[in-house]
Amino acid sequence: MSLIQWIHFPPLGDERGSLVALEAEITFPFDIKRVYYIFDTKSGVVRGLHAHKDLSQVMVCLKGSCRVMLDNGLLKEQVVLDSPNKGLLIDSMMWREMHDFSEDCVLLVLANEHYDESDYIRDYNDFLKQVHS
Ligand code: TYD
Repeated sequence: MSLIQWIHFPPLGDERGSLVALEAEITFPFDIKRVYYIFDTKSGVVRGLHAHKDLSQVMVCLKGSCRVMLDNGLLKEQVVLDSPNKGLLIDSMMWREMHDFSEDCVLLVLANEHYDESDYIRDYNDFLKQVHS
């Protein structure tokens, strides 16, 4: 089983250029409650480094690229995000790290819940304990 779950967005572009529409439960797997984006990431920075107890998120690289490492406590997989036409679905209890941000990277993240610090697991050993409990 792969940890990498892509959501392919229907292309609505034409000769003028590209357009993607994300509509909850139509072209998108959940109701979107929160949207945030990461940009101007400094060279060499690693972001993420946490898991969520109960949160689904989709990451879309709108511009540039970055590498995402996913770890469910048993397997680790990594993937390069470099296309605005598809999103990476990340479910609960998945350790994630984002590396190798290009200077121009704009990473959009859509989430099914509001921000809640108590939903984060920021310690990798705690994450492993919770996965294996
Ligand atoms: P953090 O979760 O550390 O970012 P990342 O995991 O992408 O490296 O978030 C950085 C700060 O922003 C932290 O103080 C929490 C805050 N934050 C919010 O207030 N709302 C949000 O939706 C997110 C994602 C972060």
